[in-house]
Amino acid sequence: MRKHAEKSKIIRSSPALQKISKKMLAQGKSIGLVPTMGALHKGHVSLIEKSVKSNDVTIVSIFVNPVQFGANEDFAKYPRRLLADAKLCGEAGASIVFAPEPKDMYPLPLQTFVHNPALENLYCGAYRPGHFAGVLSVVAKLFNIAMPCKAYFGEKDFQQLHLIRRMACDLNFSVKIIGARTIREKNGLAMSSRNEYLSTEERAAAGSIYAGLLAAKKLHGQGEVSAAKLKSAVKERIERASGKIQYVEIVNKNDLMPVGTKVLRNAVVLVACYFGKTRLIDHVEL
Ligand code: PAF
Repeated sequence: MRKHAEKSKIIRSSPALQKISKKMLAQGKSIGLVPTMGALHKGHVSLIEKSVKSNDVTIVSIFVNPVQFGANEDFAKYPRRLLADAKLCGEAGASIVFAPEPKDMYPLPLQTFVHNPALENLYCGAYRPGHFAGVLSVVAKLFNIAMPCKAYFGEKDFQQLHLIRRMACDLNFSVKIIGARTIREKNGLAMSSRNEYLSTEERAAAGSIYAGLLAAKKLHGQGEVSAAKLKSAVKERIERASGKIQYVEIVNKNDLMPVGTKVLRNAVVLVACYFGKTRLIDHVEL
């Protein structure tokens, strides 16, 4: 990580950030936005560094967005540590940390949502009703507040990234959506703020998720086209390590539609599973 002398400035209110962004744009400066929910890890840092390289100003938003969590999900326990996160943002070169309170983002209960009825109830959406409408709506708000030229998201949340790209395209947002590759722990586990919930044993066992995905990729490379067999390869590795599968799906990487029984090209395997009480997701391109 590059060490920058400057600290990130913490902005807590949307009108204040909007004013700053307007001023920067008027001065001809390019703005990069890295939307996060905080508890930053190396994956986030890589997004921030990517933005810092190609924009004059990088804004990192840190907001645990209540409207994307279901009633029985981890909103209350989601890790929050603004000062440590802000330090990391400064070290990675971000100029501004935007950390609004829920009351600032939602002065009134949200009535206007962004939906994608074709995709929001598939895969993760089937198990997290309302989740993607919550994500798209807050990302749309963040785009209107921060007014970025480019916005950076991890490829780890493959369905989320696809939906955000589609929203930006469908609704003519003048922001370029940049996806960045998944950063992994030594055992292959995709970095996620939720990895903090895992015990040492669960964290070690969760390396089986990527091992399973790589096994499917290898099989496909050797000519296996049966979707059922490729999915089994993933399931088997995870279940052998005591993980509990929520779903494994093989989808077309361009439109996210299920590929059917035969897997030819442009396919991605998506998986969601539990280790202990922690829900983890990952994917691999075949
Ligand atoms: O990926 C996340 O951290 C969140 O879903 C996002 C994009 C910041 C929206 O709250």
